[in-house]
This record gives sequence, structure tokens and C-alpha cells, in this order.
Amino acid sequence: MSAPVAVFDSGVGGVSVLRCLLRELPGENFLFYGDSANAPYGVRPTAEIRALTLAAARRLFGAGAKALVVACNTATAAAINELREAYPQKIVIGIEPALKPAVDAFPHGTVAVMATQATLREEKFHTLEAHFAGDCRILTVSPAGLVELVERGMGDSPEAEALLRPYLAPLAGKIDALVLGCTHFPFASAPIRRILGESLPLYDGGGGTARETRRRLAAAGLLNPGPGSLSWENSLGTAQIYRLCERLVR
Ligand code: DGL
Repeated sequence: MSAPVAVFDSGVGGVSVLRCLLRELPGENFLFYGDSANAPYGVRPTAEIRALTLAAARRLFGAGAKALVVACNTATAAAINELREAYPQKIVIGIEPALKPAVDAFPHGTVAVMATQATLREEKFHTLEAHFAGDCRILTVSPAGLVELVERGMGDSPEAEALLRPYLAPLAGKIDALVLGCTHFPFASAPIRRILGESLPLYDGGGGTARETRRRLAAAGLLNPGPGSLSWENSLGTAQIYRLCERLVR
């Protein structure tokens, strides 16, 4: 029961999911592993994303994790089926763009999904869209270079705003909601709001993933009574990246 809940992302983006997990499951011992040395994953071929994700899972289950939360839309889209096949006895939870709650709120509106190239090209996203879009118009956008800025701690910066503007300004006033379909993007929500307006609803999958993790642990009788803890691992291993993790988790 006290074994760690591993949380994995291609880098520091998954910290946006970790924040939700810490609120939902304060008694758990979390081990966050970010593969920042190999980020971004979203521009890589599927086979590479799969291999990196399976290697991370081997490392984390090897460290005794009782569950793995894949806090990365890209890794989930590319590798969740393979992960579940490789670890049939383990709890493996993925994340996907929060399209359903956005469409539920605006069933006849227009919703934009912002995600990596890899997430948007994978079968998993097309299935999600076919399943939930209904009469809602879905637009997609993939801002090249934003993940890299977040990895440098610059999600809320003039550079991020300048990078985002050509992608998002054409959508201003034309969409009812924006789905942040990459776990790095909540760290850029300030410039996103500056471009699209403060009142535009933003949806991300962090809360739903945390609630699902609680349900799965409870169903397996694996909830830890506490006290909880948090430890960090990162493939870059620099003091700077651990400082950034500590800053983003607050
Ligand atoms: N954080 C990841 C996601 O949720 C992707 C970032 C990357 O491209 O590595 O999709």
C-alpha cells in the first residue's frame, strides 16, 4: 500500500497532473519521473515514443511502483495499449484530451484542441473525436516549440505569448472553449488567456486523471492511509530541472 504511485511524462508537463493527484490523494507516496533529456516526444515517430515510454515504465515498475500514471497525452496515445499488454497485473492510467467535458458544455459550438503533432495524428485521438464530437465543430492546433519553452520554465513569458499568437489569434472570438491536450500547456495558460480572452473556458485532463487514479487504487484496495510524500527523478538530472519541478508543483 505504501509503494509509490509513479507519475511519468516526457518532461515537466506532467507536473500539472501531479498537482491534481496530490490534492486528490494526499496520502500517497508519489514518484515523478520526467524524461526531459528526450523531450519533446510530440515530434517523434510513434515507434520512438513507444520505446521511450516502455523504458520509463520498466524503470518505474522496477523501482516498485504499485501504479503508473502516464501524465502525458502523447505517450498515452502512442503506447497505452502496449503498456497494458506488458503489465497486465498493474494499474496503468493514461490521460487524453478533455474533449468530452468541453463538448458536453458546448454541444453545438466550436471547440479547439491544442495538442502535440503526435497526439493529433494517433488513432486514439480520431476515435475520441468520432465518439464525442457529435454536432460540435472540432478544430485542432499544435504550436511548435511551446513544450520546449515550458521545459525551460518559460510557459508564462513574452516568448511563449509571441510563439502562441500566430496559432491562437485567428481563433479569438470564434471558439467556445479550448482543450489543453498536452500536459505542458496548463503552464502556458496565462499567455493563452491573454490572447484568447480571460473568460474562455480551458479544459485539461488533470482532474479526471486524478479521480480515475483514486478509483482504481480504491478498487484494488491499494489506497495508502498516509502520510504521503513526493520524490523526483528526471533523466536530465540537473539541479535546474529539479528546481523547475519544485516551482511548477506549487
Ligand atoms: N506532455 C506531453 C503531452 O501531454 C507532450 C510533450 C512532448 O511533446 O514531449 O502530450
